[in-house]
Amino acid sequence: MNEPVLDIRNVSKRYGDFTALDDVSLQIGAGEIFALLGPNGAGKTTLIGSVCGLVRKTSGTIRIFGIDLDRDPISPRFRVGLVPQEINFDPFFTAWEQLEIQQGFFGRPRDEARIRELLEALNLQEKAHVPSRALSGGMKRRLLIAKALVHRPQLVFLDEPTAGVDVELRRDLWAYVRKLRAEGTTIVLTTHYLEEAEELADRVGIIDRGRLLLVEEKTTLMHRLGERRLVVKFSEPVTQLPELAVSAGAMLADDRRSLAYAEKPGRARSGDVLRSLYAAQLPVTDVESRAARLEDILLQVLKQSERHAAAPPATEVIAAPRP
Ligand SMILES: Nc1ncnc2c1ncn2[C@@H]1O[C@H](COP(=O)(O)OP(=O)(O)O)[C@@H](O)[C@H]1O
Ligand SMILES: [Mg+2]
Repeated sequence: MNEPVLDIRNVSKRYGDFTALDDVSLQIGAGEIFALLGPNGAGKTTLIGSVCGLVRKTSGTIRIFGIDLDRDPISPRFRVGLVPQEINFDPFFTAWEQLEIQQGFFGRPRDEARIRELLEALNLQEKAHVPSRALSGGMKRRLLIAKALVHRPQLVFLDEPTAGVDVELRRDLWAYVRKLRAEGTTIVLTTHYLEEAEELADRVGIIDRGRLLLVEEKTTLMHRLGERRLVVKFSEPVTQLPELAVSAGAMLADDRRSLAYAEKPGRARSGDVLRSLYAAQLPVTDVESRAARLEDILLQVLKQSERHAAAPPATEVIAAPRP
């Protein structure tokens, strides 16, 4: 990675006793698209907020373009754009006015060409001069994006940019994000839609309960965690798996009514695992086999993290009084 555009080191955020971010470190290089994935309440918005000055971190350092935000919290932010999760503009101004105000806010000279370009790119030109309260939900989202980009930021945060928008708009936005990247903009996006990360991201981070669990190249991640994915359903709970399936690493679900197997190089083939199930006369009712998806990986990582969190330290188990 070149000099990172964003350098987050050991950042924590506590609200009273609650830890929203727990020792997060993350570097993002120029021109990459980084997707931050995680369930609701994981800390995604908090992390973005601490970079963008909306949340005051409890500890750690954040550098943007090499500038430590504790030393200079203002000037680097002029080069950052944020598309917030929540609509945050004044409903009485028109789209055009919002964008003009935003330019002024960022200390930029009036740049009508830029405003026009964004309105067009985001398909808002026809609504440029109506009060923004009259825009549809999808249009409001587009305007949020235009607003975040009007000062030509080099680092852009998109916090669930396509939550609740229709598929068509989502595709448009993806195309626009790719264009931004082609122009050299660095993009950090949070998303619930794994499809979105799969489509766009160069690297993926998974966050849960304030902890960044994993950061990896998307392609590596998808390779490492299995090329094909086999899911077998049983009509009743299964007590024992055949030796071949166990040694290959097939996993029974908690209710023992289904089995998942990720085929990887050097491991048993999915077909052989399946044959061993039939040979053992297990009550197979349904078989699904498909290419690995980011969704599988996310679920797997979150499940591991949950198990980890659920297992109390040994001393606590011994000391725990019986109810
Ligand atoms: N101002 C606040 N006071 C107390 N808790 C907060 C505050 N803001 C966020 N949290 C908590 O921090 C956690 C992370 O929230 P957030 O970053 O919004 O998650 P995400 O964006 O991943 O859904 C949540 O449990 C949330 O309730
Ligand atoms: Mg959020």
